[in-house]
This record gives sequence, structure tokens and C-alpha cells, in this order.
Amino acid sequence: MKSAKSYIEENKQRFIDELIELLKIPSISADSAYKKDIKLTADAVKSSLEKAGCSLVEICETPGNPIVYGEKIIDPSLPTILVYGHYDVQPPDPLDLWDSPPFEPIIKKTDLHPEGALFARGACDDKGQMYMHVKALEYMTAQGELPCNVKFMIEGEEEVGSVNLGWFVEQNHEKLANDVILISDTGMIAKDIPSICTGLRGLSYVEVEVTGPNRDLHSGLYGGAVANPINILAKMIASLHDENNHITIPGFYDAVENLSGEERAKMAEAPFSKEAYCKSLDIEDVYGEKGYTTNERNSIRPTLDVNGIWGGYTGEGAKTVIASKAHAKISMRLVPHQDWKEITELFKKHFESIAPKGVTVKVTPHHGGQGYVTPIDTLEYRAASKAFEDTFGKSPIPQRSGGSIPIVALFERELKSKTILMGFGLDSDAIHSPNEHFGLWNYLKGIETIPRFYHHFTEMSK
Ligand code: BES
Ligand code: MN
Ligand code: MN
Repeated sequence: MKSAKSYIEENKQRFIDELIELLKIPSISADSAYKKDIKLTADAVKSSLEKAGCSLVEICETPGNPIVYGEKIIDPSLPTILVYGHYDVQPPDPLDLWDSPPFEPIIKKTDLHPEGALFARGACDDKGQMYMHVKALEYMTAQGELPCNVKFMIEGEEEVGSVNLGWFVEQNHEKLANDVILISDTGMIAKDIPSICTGLRGLSYVEVEVTGPNRDLHSGLYGGAVANPINILAKMIASLHDENNHITIPGFYDAVENLSGEERAKMAEAPFSKEAYCKSLDIEDVYGEKGYTTNERNSIRPTLDVNGIWGGYTGEGAKTVIASKAHAKISMRLVPHQDWKEITELFKKHFESIAPKGVTVKVTPHHGGQGYVTPIDTLEYRAASKAFEDTFGKSPIPQRSGGSIPIVALFERELKSKTILMGFGLDSDAIHSPNEHFGLWNYLKGIETIPRFYHHFTEMSK
């Protein structure tokens, strides 16, 4: 029987090559032109699970993109781990900012990844991290090391709000019954500082449209006499934060949980260098809500950000025009206890109320989800902590993340089980950005650490 380390060493080139094949398929869920590739990716995930040792694998159709379900039940009296991940990816735009094509994976060395990193859309989020679980299963079944039952649920709509997964989970309580949900779709602090993600922010995503005159106008003939929707939209957006970078929507903070001084002090123990942070982003200083540290601003505090804004003439040269319409896409990251549907309503009411006469405003909600926070005095946290200790030689640090996986709160509500978030990516891996990558060291370390979780979770459940 081989240890995970030696099994990985012997098979690592194949593990990398297989991931490269998966990364070549552009499974972009936001763009319906890629439906065919979504299907191809689901099929590829299915066959990888079969090869890794699942005894049952099926493609579950939904009104949207298919969900891949797999299982290996060795003994119903043993615990069951449900692995969740997603095979869809974000659009790669803007393409000209990539140093190599997003769906032609290549390995390059970087300062943080001297062993090499795989550059491709989805390398880290989440194909690479999801595939670690497939390879960990392969190791455990091939070496007779699988200590418990396992189920896989890999979806294809995470990046567009998991719109059909909620329905699937509600319909399949029994099929998905488990003792713990295991996800690798977050990050860790650094390669030598493992961490377990103990919180995710919720999300409300809306689109706004401001309409002025019924047609585009000559900006000389009409300029100054009618409301310019782009000027107005800019003003309205600017008014959503005050001078302390506090959000001005009435009621927005009502449900926000204030952490105790003790909890904030504990958070501040996590290693963080403002200097290195600024340097990595080429910025002179950080920016955000008064009274909070950077780590607090991007985890325990809610935010409001414009993700895109457009209108008028943006082509080459100059065109003198007052556009009839202006648009923006706005996301609000929420913290536990803020209800995303309530926040969406508050935003809508407020945004409509601040529009001056002379324009009309339309607010269209896209998607959203609840935040998540989990305690650390649980069996699954201790099992994950031991797993990291085994392979990193040190205890992981609990850390709340700023990102969102909205379905996690629903899992807890519907399946009555806790989620453990064992992430192996780094913030610098550029997920959702051009040149997304995933360190080969991180990929292989993940494959090595996951079976340790299976082992400790099973042992500790006895
Ligand atoms: N994997 C990310 C979320 C994430 C990344 C959480 C890093 C913590 C650390 C996920 O794929 C994602 O991007 N989620 C979206 C939300 C979704 C509803 C579009 C997000 O956070 O923007
Ligand atoms: Mn993800
Ligand atoms: Mn993502």
C-alpha cells in the first residue's frame, strides 16, 4: 500500500495532464453560446468520477445546466461525505489582458509558484480545486484507503448564482443525505499558512437602468437643459456611500451582526501585511469603511460595488451626444443575518427614491444568496484541522472570506448538515481575472490533504 505522497509523486504528470484536458473546455455558464461545452464538461466530469472509483455516476438534467452526481457507498453504517464543486467558469473577458489564451492551459513559474502554476480560466475556480477531490478519491479507492462513503455533486451554474441547484437539493434530500459537506472553492492565507474558511458573504446582485429623454440628443443643442442619464447615474451611485464609506441605504445595516472586541482581536491575529497587499496590487493605499481593518472590510462588513457601467458613446474618437439611457451592474456583499431578498428590496426602494425628476429608474434583481458562518468547535472543523496538520505540519487558521458561495446556506437549511471549506487557492491566483492560475504545489497538496480529512472525520465520528 502506498502513501498518498508516493502515489501522487508517481502519478503527478497524469494528474496535471488530466486537469489540462478539463481546462481546455470553455464551460462558461454566463454565455448561452457555450451550452455545448457545458455538456461536454459535465460528461468529462462524469467519466472522471467513474474512473476514480464511483460505483454510480449520473448526469442530472435541470432546467439549466446539468449537475453531475456520483457516489461510492461502502457501508451504510459509516459516515458519508458529500463533496460539492462546480465545473462552470467565469467569462474570460477582457481577452486582450491574458498573456496566453484562457482555454489553452500552460504551465509557467511565478514568484509565489516556483514549482510552476497552471494558467487557464477555471484553473483555481473551481475546476482545479474540484478535480483535487476526484484524484483524492482515485487514490483512496485504488489503494483501499477509502474509510467512509462519499457522494459528489458537481454543478454547472455556480458562477451564475446556482439558480437550479436549490431546486435540485430540495427534490433530493435522500439522495444527498450526508454527515458533512466538503468544498474546496475558497483560498488559504499562504502556502505556509493553511487556513479553513469559516464564513462566506451573502450577495445581492442588481442591474439598474436610468432613462432620460426618449432618444439620444445632440449634447450642444440639449446639453444643460435636460437631465443626462449618465451624469445622473454617476451622481446616484456616488451618493450610495457617505464620507466614511458607509452605505447610505436606509436599513442596510439593521441586521448586521457586530463582532465583539474579543472576536475582532482574534481576527487581527491572522498574518497580514498592508505593505505587501498594496504592493501586490500596485496601489498606494487601501480604501474602505472607516473604523475597520482591511481584513474586516473584506469579510465581516457588507459592501456595495459597481461591477460594470455603460451608456453613451464609447467608440473611437469623440461623439457629442447625450445618451437616452445609462446602465450599471451593482453587487452588494452581505454578512450573516442580512437577508438578501430584504436588502434587494431596500436597494430598489432607495434607488428609485433618489432619482430626480427628468429621469426614470428601473432596478432589475439578478441573483443573490445568504451569507454563512460556522463555529470552529465542531467535529468537522477538528477533522479538517488535523488533516492540514498532517500535510502542512501546522494548524490552520480559521478565517472568514469575502467571497460568496450562496448555496452553502441552503445546504445547511435543506440537508441539515454543516459545510467544511478546505480551500487551497491563493488570493493572488487571479480568479475571475485575466491570467487565472493554480499552483501545481497547491493542486498536489490538496490531493494529499483531502484523504486525511476522510480519515480523521471517520475516526472521530466513531
Ligand atoms: N469560488 C468562488 C467564491 C470564493 C472564492 C469564496 C474565494 C471565497 C474565496 C465562487 O466561484 C464565486 O466566484 N462566487 C461568486 C458568487 C456567485 C453567486 C456568482 C462570487 O463570490 O462572486
Ligand atoms: Mn468557485
Ligand atoms: Mn467564481
